[in-house]
Amino acid sequence: MINKKLTGKYKTYLKENLSKKRYNHSINVANAAVRLAKRYGADEDKAYIAGLLHDIAKEMPLEEQLEIVTGSPLDVCEIEKKAPALYHAVAGAELIQTLFNISDREIIDAVRYHTVGCKNMTKLSQVIYLADLISEDRDYKDVNKMRKYAEKSLERAMCEAFRFSVKDSAEKGNSIPVSTLEAYNDFIIYKK
Ligand SMILES: [Fe+2]
Ligand SMILES: [Fe+2]
Repeated sequence: MINKKLTGKYKTYLKENLSKKRYNHSINVANAAVRLAKRYGADEDKAYIAGLLHDIAKEMPLEEQLEIVTGSPLDVCEIEKKAPALYHAVAGAELIQTLFNISDREIIDAVRYHTVGCKNMTKLSQVIYLADLISEDRDYKDVNKMRKYAEKSLERAMCEAFRFSVKDSAEKGNSIPVSTLEAYNDFIIYKK
């Protein structure tokens, strides 16, 4: 059973450190993550916590995020180190350990890889990655398509998500983190 006192503490921190919009996004991702966890057999409590906290560092000043990334023992490739939009995932994975004493490896990894993905993603990491893409507040062009994939098959949805991510980065002429390509290669076998 989820510890309401703990999640209350997490929410208080998020309310104080995120805009209203991003706070709502965090709640929506947590709820979407629980739905996906139920459907695909991941731990629902961990899904709620990781979903809630995935963007915890997103509105921290970039220099502070970078400082945490630089000092982190987590594996971060050079391409990621040069992409400020990606710092918050590593910084978030560190913050939840230092602020809240979270030591659950699956939760830490789900937060750490919610931006770039990685090879051999756990079910929880997949659930969080996808929940972030299909949460209620999302309104990009193909969001309904992605929601349909997410209803049918977790792996198929992840396959489509990484196809889009890699294609989009290539079209924009951006570098692609190694772990994103590894995730793409893991999931491309589910393409129909
Ligand atoms: Fe994020
Ligand atoms: Fe997010």
